[in-house]
Amino acid sequence: MKFDIIQKTPLYNAFSEIGKRIFLPDGIFYWAGRAKNEAELIGTIGAAYGFEKDFIDGGNSDWLPCYLKDIKEYSNLSVKKVVTYTSIGGLQETREIWKEWIIKKSFYIEKNEGSLLSRLKKYITTPVITGGVTNGIFQACALFLSPKDYIIMPNKRWSNYDNIIDKFLGAKIRSFEFFQKNEINIEGLRIAINDVAKIQEKIVILLNFPNNPTGYVPSKKEGSEIIDLLRSCQLTHNKPIIVLVDDAYEPYIYSDNALNKSIFYDLHQLDENVIPIKLDGITKELLIYGGRIGFLTLGIKPHWLDNYEDLETLKLELNNKFEGFNRATISNPNSFYQVLTHDLFIEKGMDHIVHTRDKVKNLLKERYDYINFELGTINNPEISIDPNSGGFFLFINLNPKKIKATEFANHLLKKYKVGVIPIERLDENVNGIRIAYCSIDLNKIPELIKRVNFALNDFS
Ligand SMILES: Cc1ncc(COP(=O)(O)O)c(C=O)c1O
Repeated sequence: MKFDIIQKTPLYNAFSEIGKRIFLPDGIFYWAGRAKNEAELIGTIGAAYGFEKDFIDGGNSDWLPCYLKDIKEYSNLSVKKVVTYTSIGGLQETREIWKEWIIKKSFYIEKNEGSLLSRLKKYITTPVITGGVTNGIFQACALFLSPKDYIIMPNKRWSNYDNIIDKFLGAKIRSFEFFQKNEINIEGLRIAINDVAKIQEKIVILLNFPNNPTGYVPSKKEGSEIIDLLRSCQLTHNKPIIVLVDDAYEPYIYSDNALNKSIFYDLHQLDENVIPIKLDGITKELLIYGGRIGFLTLGIKPHWLDNYEDLETLKLELNNKFEGFNRATISNPNSFYQVLTHDLFIEKGMDHIVHTRDKVKNLLKERYDYINFELGTINNPEISIDPNSGGFFLFINLNPKKIKATEFANHLLKKYKVGVIPIERLDENVNGIRIAYCSIDLNKIPELIKRVNFALNDFS
């Protein structure tokens, strides 16, 4: 996009540095828009779809975005509650319930792990409601990154991080090769931390599991390795390590071997100054993408404080900072969906929510199993599939010497009517396509992979 006209107006010089830099790239929405018009099989946008009867008892045969049955009952919410502004940090009742939800998601209650539970209850901030997970990511990044500061994240990542960090905040991404021998590249992460520690007084890292675009979730063993690495780096460098934990796809884990809860919890238990910030929301977790309700929660370290009063004051001060961001960006969050979230939890209960969502999770797991199986039947040295065991996507790497991802996606769309998202960042060794299998019916998966295979053969 060029801004020829704006540049001729007085507006342009009035823009901030950020205002000059920001633009909307030809990303997911570009490909999704094209796929809508040109594709027969659409695997572009990360929104789960299914036949209603497959995820709702008594549902019909319409192909719809997956939703929780109970949501339908909520169009008669009290007008009084819905039309008023909520407070800047969000409805207190909704915030408190989400805190309970975070505690429940740790499984410490079920396992009766009392001391872990009490640290979690006492030392996390009450979640502040943000404008979706995206706004929470922005706020957390803005809170810690000045222009030119570095944040560490893998080379395979959600492209919107680059918009927020690079284009908006003017900060820098120190990326590392995500995988080595189909496991997380711990050594690459260590080197990145050591590099940044040389030039910065803090280390900021963003982790996202299940990952977009790969679907990667660490195994339990890899999870422990990440924790050990962060602890030892913190001790070596004696600088705070801030870990932004993007938990957008938290519940969607399909393999027993994978870490079955957010890495936030283990980070929170560390006594060292490895400080986690949990970013989650109703958008994927409760399958309400347009609800735009996210939550930002920080894990406090007990050793920062001498007594209970200091802890409470620190929570108030942190809350004040977070609410300052809300006021400046979204003013306050969407009332309707905060009320809906609150009433859903109170009236239906957490177990019921998990139970009804399991139908969707099972649908996605079936597709995950099937698409990985089908991909396993392709014998082509020019491709490799990244490790994946959760989320909405998987990623096929293409040999950049033979196939450029954007060219391939274009060919796939034009000739075979299949829409996918290409990611081509050769400077970071990324060249491949993201398939959003969350939006493809199980029965269409063999056809999808067949067409991908045909397209690959056209390049060989
Ligand atoms: C990794 C990741 N984080 C965050 C988000 C944004 O979530 P939200 O819709 O809640 O802003 C997405 C959405 O695509 C995502 O893939």
